[in-house]
Amino acid sequence: MSQQQTTAKRDGFSSGFGVLAATLGSAVGLGNIWKFPYLTGANGGASFLLVYLLATLLVALPVMIAEIALGRKAKANPISALLALAPARQPWWLIGAAGMVASFLILSFYSEVVAWVFAYILKAISGSVLSSDRAVTEAAFGSLISDPVQSLVWQWVVLATMGGILMLGVTKGIEALTKKLMPLLFLLLVLLCAVSLSLDKAREGLAFLFHPDFSKLTAATVLTALGLAFFKLSIGMGTMMTYGSYFRDDQDIPATAFRVMSADLCVSLLAGIAIFPAVFTFGFEPAAGPALVFITIPAVFSQIPMGQALMVVFFVLTAIAATGATLSLMEVPVLILQERFGLSRRKATASTLGLLALTGSTCALTNSALSGFTLFGLNMFDLFDFVSSNLILPAGGIFIALFVGWVWGFDQLRRALSNEGRLNNGKLAGVVFFLLRYVSPLLILLVMLKGLNLF
Ligand code: PFF
Repeated sequence: MSQQQTTAKRDGFSSGFGVLAATLGSAVGLGNIWKFPYLTGANGGASFLLVYLLATLLVALPVMIAEIALGRKAKANPISALLALAPARQPWWLIGAAGMVASFLILSFYSEVVAWVFAYILKAISGSVLSSDRAVTEAAFGSLISDPVQSLVWQWVVLATMGGILMLGVTKGIEALTKKLMPLLFLLLVLLCAVSLSLDKAREGLAFLFHPDFSKLTAATVLTALGLAFFKLSIGMGTMMTYGSYFRDDQDIPATAFRVMSADLCVSLLAGIAIFPAVFTFGFEPAAGPALVFITIPAVFSQIPMGQALMVVFFVLTAIAATGATLSLMEVPVLILQERFGLSRRKATASTLGLLALTGSTCALTNSALSGFTLFGLNMFDLFDFVSSNLILPAGGIFIALFVGWVWGFDQLRRALSNEGRLNNGKLAGVVFFLLRYVSPLLILLVMLKGLNLF
């Protein structure tokens, strides 16, 4: 690997609010609106939610703080950052390399789900999906994902859109977009919740989401909840390290991470409250899988005046939320190609997109041309998701925690979290350090071994 190359002038976030908005922009995305509800539905509801909450607080939050701190300290892409911060010849930079692989795996299926969202904007405009009839909404979704041409073309539209935005640069592209539109999505979700809570079987939906039934919990479910916690906060693969490298030196890292986690959780819960009452009222299957949001949300909108127009707005805002997350995912390989391989931003973006068009197509065609093709019993879409969310991200989390807890050390962490003594974060640094040194790595390891049936 060549020596670290630095760009002439690093792009960065221009204000404290910009930092918060962009970090939130990476965390909030289809993970909240699509993945959280479908995994909660498929894994038994409230018990899954509880484990997910524990995983977020005990494991994901400390790892997020660690990643941002490392990124800001090194002001470089994850590979260069770990090369710079680790003692010579210790291969911690492999975390960054694994992150690049995870980024491609996640983007391959994520871009396809964004493609469905794009397609649903048009479907919403045409009015063809606005119905509380399960047969209608399921057929609409089914015909989209089983059509290879639509699946591929929409994915290309998504990739081209993201590439265009990324070439504009960090501050202009990401900040401007996320800052303005996140609050609107939040408001629309609150409205959807109100509608959903007025439905006949709202109680059943809420009970599913909030009354735990621990008999539904298995080791595999716990691993899925942990994987979701990592996926949600965009950690374990260098994304937050990359964003940390754009953080200003006066930014309070733990406070920012805590705010992002809380806001992110709120959005997921709102999505859950909007969806599950409708699932029970209209007879959908909570375990419908990746289709859940796409078949249920139209039923909720069918219950309100101006439902069609609002559904268009909903999918547009979801697309925008997904854009912030997609851009942050692409930022990992793009920045590595730029800073380590000397490619221009344009070339780095173009090569990332080219490779993605290839790997992504296997996910786009999962329900059509490649429907019979499985590896380890999973289709490509589910396999890419499993390998990234349940293997690479938690493993990345173990190593990031171990790196900070045993190599970087308490003193460095305390200085980073207190902005060299300017903030009163000493005690907090102690707690985070303890979690990173002992709790997080052990917990992740246990959950992974058990979840994968290895002991
Ligand atoms: N956190 C994003 C979401 O929940 O939609 C997805 C994501 C973005 C995962 C960035 C990983 C990542 F590095």
